[in-house]
Amino acid sequence: MWKSRFSEDTADVVLKFTQSLDMDWHLAEADIKGSKAHVKTLASAGLITQEEEKALLTGLDQVLDEIKSGKLEPLIKLEDVHMNIEARLTEILGDIGRKLHTARSRNDQIATTLRLFLREQLLEIASKVETFLESILDRAENHMNFVVPGYTHLRRAQPISMGHYWMSHFWAFARDFSRLKAALEALNECPLGSAALAGSTFPLDRHLSAKLLRFFKPTENSIDSVANRDYIADFYHFASLFLVHCSRLAEDLIIYSSDEFGIVQLPDAFCTGSSIMPQKKNPDVLELVRGKVGQVLGSYMDLLIMLKGLPLAYNRDLQEDKRSLMNVLQTLHGILDVLPPLILKVEIDVDGASKAFEDGFILATDVADYLVLKGVPFRKAHWLVGNAIKWCLNEGKNFLDLSLEEWRSLIPQFDEEILENLNPRSSVERRKTYGGTAFSEVMRQLSEGKKIIEEVEKFLSLWPEDVD
Ligand code: ARG
Repeated sequence: MWKSRFSEDTADVVLKFTQSLDMDWHLAEADIKGSKAHVKTLASAGLITQEEEKALLTGLDQVLDEIKSGKLEPLIKLEDVHMNIEARLTEILGDIGRKLHTARSRNDQIATTLRLFLREQLLEIASKVETFLESILDRAENHMNFVVPGYTHLRRAQPISMGHYWMSHFWAFARDFSRLKAALEALNECPLGSAALAGSTFPLDRHLSAKLLRFFKPTENSIDSVANRDYIADFYHFASLFLVHCSRLAEDLIIYSSDEFGIVQLPDAFCTGSSIMPQKKNPDVLELVRGKVGQVLGSYMDLLIMLKGLPLAYNRDLQEDKRSLMNVLQTLHGILDVLPPLILKVEIDVDGASKAFEDGFILATDVADYLVLKGVPFRKAHWLVGNAIKWCLNEGKNFLDLSLEEWRSLIPQFDEEILENLNPRSSVERRKTYGGTAFSEVMRQLSEGKKIIEEVEKFLSLWPEDVD
């Protein structure tokens, strides 16, 4: 389509090297939607007749049908999805087909196609993230009355409600949803009509194109329109943090379900066995979640490095944005499909969790806090309790074995009331600060969490179903 100024045929290796069909053939449907809006805009500008408009729209529908049914195979010599579609359209319509590319460049075309494609993808991902949030909330609600050890430095720290633990992940994922929302809003502007870089000499109504494609508005600057890929970076920002959070959750569940920790049990249907060791139940799904995340973080870097120092406006480097994008989307869908049903079946290992409380040392802060209530300055209380632990470790005893007399000999301010209240459940119950692990606070978080889900639902219902 652009060969007339050349005196030699393009080398075969160049065709192979420059083609983008392996990444953009998936964009055919979005590309045709963009072309149909362009046809309508051309007609409204009086650049094609009503009959030509009709022929082009029907022709484009036919090409889409042929692509969907697999009848139309793309040709490498036609470089990309755009030229394959145009070539087939011209085969069907002759000279009318040759009018499609009036007032358009592949530069504004791919920018429009990508935004349309990504918008649809992000809406699908957003609804999967909603399901994801619901699965975490479900576990939080189911497990809120279970007391488990909480960790810092991967050492037992203080008892917590398991509902509190799940909600800690919920808030991270809720923040991710806000990032996804921002990415969706940022991409919702229409570059069509910017042509190669400078706009068009024809009187195109860019507001009409934007409206037809259900974009919020046309982009403000034609150079920026074809050079901008920020919206992919915005999406990667969401995807990166979301997957970092998924990998932290996956890692926790791998550790907590190990024989050594034994706090939770993973569903059999989401674990795999060993080909040699019959006793094994391996958390491969969670390991793969952890393992796949790096590729997405790398893709974010890949895009930023491509954009860094890239002269305006369009350069062919930009074609490579799609390779990583397709991979990231595939990884994200994979993880979003497998994690929620797995999460919904995670159960607490009650016996395993209670082992963490057997020596009572996890209640050390609680003893110190009680002493503060009896008038002991906190630093002194901390020293006294630490000293009592040292004594226990030397004597081979633990906090739950000690008699009131033994406690008193170690800590003169210790009394019966402290002894009676020294258990993991009351430790949880008493941490009532806003956002603390007390059951009442977990309940409050749960109702806030439900409100977030309602907001997510409302946000999703505001987006247009689809563009024809
Ligand atoms: N296949 C190209 C891409 O994906 C389309 C734009 C090509 N534009 C150009 N001036 N060569 O970016």
